[in-house]
Amino acid sequence: MKEPFNIHSFQELDSTNAYALREFARLPHGAVVTALRQTAGRGRLGRAWQSEGKGLYFTVVVKPENPASFDFPCLTQLLAVSVCGALEELGLEPRIKWPNDVLLGGAKLCGVLAEAFTEGGKVTGAAVGAGLNLHQQPKDFGELPYPAVSLAMTGRPVPHGPELLAAVLRGFGGRYPYYARHAFAAIAGEYSRRFAFTGRQAVVKGAGGAQAGTVKGVAPDGRLVLETSAGEELFSAGELEPAA
Ligand code: BTN
Repeated sequence: MKEPFNIHSFQELDSTNAYALREFARLPHGAVVTALRQTAGRGRLGRAWQSEGKGLYFTVVVKPENPASFDFPCLTQLLAVSVCGALEELGLEPRIKWPNDVLLGGAKLCGVLAEAFTEGGKVTGAAVGAGLNLHQQPKDFGELPYPAVSLAMTGRPVPHGPELLAAVLRGFGGRYPYYARHAFAAIAGEYSRRFAFTGRQAVVKGAGGAQAGTVKGVAPDGRLVLETSAGEELFSAGELEPAA
């Protein structure tokens, strides 16, 4: 991914991830799909993502050269780190809530969702998308599982969407070659220094139910390490809910 970026811009789409997956065969590696509004924005864990035109919504098409050895699950963490880098260029201090939420002042500014593209039963690519809150005010956020914030709510000037997108893509493209070779290890340091929950009591909700414990950190492969009453447990997916 190098400038000039291959950006496909729309006024409105159902979902930039859905579009990228529908058009996957004709979109090259590194193509970016962006829309001003999404009518069916998708969030993690089957949730909807409100996309009424006040945020930045985009999806990057990823087609690794060696899909068999590529770390697809941690792509969301690569994008979250890249979003953090772009926000830091603006003087902000974002933090990460495992696995891939970007927080500002403890509230969620950006969510990331990767969806796999499969051929012949094998994952050969992914559409990795992010929704970043830009202009919302508190009244714009409906019922949400976690407090939300927008850049406008910080009181600072809100950057122009395309410029912010370009900064994220520069970061993503710059890190991608190392990530393709070294997987999460390529970004472990950058991720961990923005990870906000080490030492905190939390509950991890996953497919197997909810598990309470103390967050020990993030393992070298991107999994969350939780110290529970039964010992250390590692989670590769789920939702981290810090105790109040
Ligand atoms: C989350 O639930 O935290 C993930 C939200 C991801 C939303 C983005 S907006 C752009 C892209 N297209 C979608 O439909 N979803 C992602």
